[in-house]
Amino acid sequence: MKVLVTGGAGYIGSHTVRALKQAGFTPVVLDSLVYGHRDFVDPASLVVGDLQDRPFLDQLFQQHQFVGVVHFAAFTYVGESVQQPLKYYRNNVASTLNLIEAMTQAGVGNIIFSSTCATYGEPQFLPLTEDHPQNPINPYGMGKLMVERILQDTQRAMGLQYIALRYFNAAGADPAGGIGEDHNPETHLIPLVLDVALGRRPHITVFGTDYPTPDGTCVRDYIHVNDLAQAHVLGLQYLLAGGKSLCLNLGNGNGFSVQEVITTTEAVTGRKIPVEFGTRRAGDPAVLVGSSERIRSLLKWSPEYDALEVIIQTAWTWHQARFS
Ligand SMILES: NC(=O)c1ccc[n+]([C@@H]2O[C@H](COP(=O)([O-])OP(=O)(O)OC[C@H]3O[C@@H](n4cnc5c(N)ncnc54)[C@H](O)[C@@H]3O)[C@@H](O)[C@H]2O)c1
Repeated sequence: MKVLVTGGAGYIGSHTVRALKQAGFTPVVLDSLVYGHRDFVDPASLVVGDLQDRPFLDQLFQQHQFVGVVHFAAFTYVGESVQQPLKYYRNNVASTLNLIEAMTQAGVGNIIFSSTCATYGEPQFLPLTEDHPQNPINPYGMGKLMVERILQDTQRAMGLQYIALRYFNAAGADPAGGIGEDHNPETHLIPLVLDVALGRRPHITVFGTDYPTPDGTCVRDYIHVNDLAQAHVLGLQYLLAGGKSLCLNLGNGNGFSVQEVITTTEAVTGRKIPVEFGTRRAGDPAVLVGSSERIRSLLKWSPEYDALEVIIQTAWTWHQARFS
């Protein structure tokens, strides 16, 4: 039961590779290592290559009989996507076309795709459900929405079955150790706050304290990376059992504010986090929280690590091991 995992040397991909192995699959990781880490992956399962290289992809699909593909590979910096949209459309959309074409040509009929809550844009109601209108406000989110549409059309025309998982904020690390969040540059709140706890940054900047939220700071939905990983396994098993294509939110269902993340990090680490208060950033909604009812009922998924303390504790253990 070989599964191709694109971007499997990255943060969420490497955790999913572990979960797939535990579930009895044999993952083959395809990663360019542009942002991935060689030490996150068993060398025997790693193929270094780029999704933009179509002949290489065709060769890979000839070499292996995959039952499905889990597709994480993408560039992930929203701000950069605004500055360099073509770089994002090429890597996140055109590369995915390469992958889907190579898959369909090889007769591989199942794919799990990393989509994002950024496809919704400014929330019109909360919690966000899968039926919320999709109006992305940056090229990163737009590229992910384009891929959702490409998958939908390919499903209709050629029978390719897919699950698009719209993640909220991935966080935490596998308590078993050895892998975790290591983005460079890092833009996610929890590792940035942990950097401050470790003394690698002087302070954390809080952008906006006048939002209409209980403490005035933005609220986001953090989901533990192992819970994310497990959803991919359940999704693949569902498709292999003949399940129909779906788009599903994948979040914790609970919102935590920036201030709560800082206070909880102080409690978990026992260290003071110096804070600087800045003004709001353009494009940051006050609250982004998703409803995960659909994935809970259809895939029988439920988060194991949903407490913020646990998410931060596992991230802290990893962060200290990696960066101190
Ligand atoms: N981290 C989050 O909170 C979050 C939220 C929503 C969606 N996502 C999506 O989840 C996926 C994984 O995110 P992550 O945080 O693990 O990112 P990551 O950067 O750690 O992993 C992405 C991996 O893809 C590889 N890659 C990129 N382009 C490639 C290409 N053309 N060919 C081969 N490999 C390539 C990179 O080297 C990297 O290892 C991405 O698609 C991202 O858009 C992440």
